[in-house]
Amino acid sequence: MTTITDTPVFSVEGLWKVFGPKAERVPADPELASLPAAELRSRTGCTAAVRDVSFDVRKGEVFVVMGLSGSGKSTLVRCLTRLIEPTAGTIAVDGEDVRAMDRTRLRELRRHRAAMVFQHFGLLPHRTVLDNVAYGLEIQGVGKSERRTRAREVVTKVGLEGMEQRRPGQLSGGQRQRVGLARALAVDPEVLLFDEPFSALDPLIRRDMQEEVIRLHREEGRTMVFITHDLNEALKLGDRIALMRDGRVVQLGTPEEIVGSPADDYVREFVRDVPREQVMTVRTAMRTASMEEAGNGPAVSPNATVSQAIEAVARSGAPARVVDRGRCVGVVDSDALLGVVAGTTPVDADNDTDATAGDQAAAAVGGDSAAGSQAAVAAGSRAAGAAPVPGKAAPRTRGQAPQSPGTDSGAL
Ligand SMILES: Nc1ncnc2c1ncn2[C@@H]1O[C@H](COP(=O)(O)OP(=O)(O)OP(=O)(O)O)[C@@H](O)[C@H]1O
Ligand SMILES: [Mg+2]
Repeated sequence: MTTITDTPVFSVEGLWKVFGPKAERVPADPELASLPAAELRSRTGCTAAVRDVSFDVRKGEVFVVMGLSGSGKSTLVRCLTRLIEPTAGTIAVDGEDVRAMDRTRLRELRRHRAAMVFQHFGLLPHRTVLDNVAYGLEIQGVGKSERRTRAREVVTKVGLEGMEQRRPGQLSGGQRQRVGLARALAVDPEVLLFDEPFSALDPLIRRDMQEEVIRLHREEGRTMVFITHDLNEALKLGDRIALMRDGRVVQLGTPEEIVGSPADDYVREFVRDVPREQVMTVRTAMRTASMEEAGNGPAVSPNATVSQAIEAVARSGAPARVVDRGRCVGVVDSDALLGVVAGTTPVDADNDTDATAGDQAAAAVGGDSAAGSQAAVAAGSRAAGAAPVPGKAAPRTRGQAPQSPGTDSGAL
């Protein structure tokens, strides 16, 4: 299992992408920069697809970019490796300035370090599965036998064993996307970038592929940037989610933060129908345990979802102890758990510390906050959304990466 660290893989600061004539003047002029989209278009003929966006993608996390169609998601992710040239702002990968990279360095970034998986697979129709998977290695100049060996390994990893000699036309949509994923993984990139890879798939296959991503991530710990306009997918996959609207990031947080404390009415409306108990962890509802409570009742992990704790409390009839590495760090009772379901328990960033203030043991929970709560949310969130995934309470790990020819093969 891989842990998420604070070390950024990508670090983005004040990023703008404006399409249209004399695009540079828009971010440079505070008046133009603050115009609503329609007015900006009528006054300048420009579209600001990405507006003043800043975020880090941490090593080992699944960073989801979510938003409605046209909100700027694809533009944003393509700017990361300059498949689209940013208009203003800075982008660093492992501390290196992406905007200052020359062609050779950029090619190396796209071929080796950040591989993309696209919605329409981008497979080469006349090549076999194996040769499609090996494609990224081929353009890296890896020798034939080595790339075939590597491709075979990855084909097995994504569950396509036995289909190596088929051509894309002989595969289902889900299988084709597995080839796309395998191709990305074959080059062993540091980051996998997914641009709505599953939106063309039917719901069951889509769920399969989501599971596949979670599994790969858990096994390999690869950093992933995953674009989707599907909230359930975002909640299920994301360690953190950046929610975009009209080119801006309106909220960036864990699924628990986004569902528990929406930044504004727009986000609130977006997450309105999410079953909160499947996203929120028991930390939200936890309070200090009395002496008696600390020794009795069912035990749940701090990563358990409210839904899981409700089950434990209902079975035992007693408040559940939240136990972290053998220590009771608090309790959750039925009132508090119902409060989360009803949405009457506000979530604030310090909630877990507040709930346990004064409790020595609680310090342990607060102390491991960043990684710990990430894992907690990861565990909880994966069971979230309209298509919950019960039993997904294990903290995850990260997966591996592809490379893509086809329409976007200019990248290579
Ligand atoms: N080459 C371009 N020239 C002009 N405008 C563009 C260009 N590419 C994108 N846009 C505009 O930028 C905005 C953001 O587009 P983008 O493709 O990033 O959205 P998206 O969030 O990925 O949408 P979708 O979910 O439909 O893929 C849209 O208004 C789009 O019309
Ligand atoms: Mg898009």
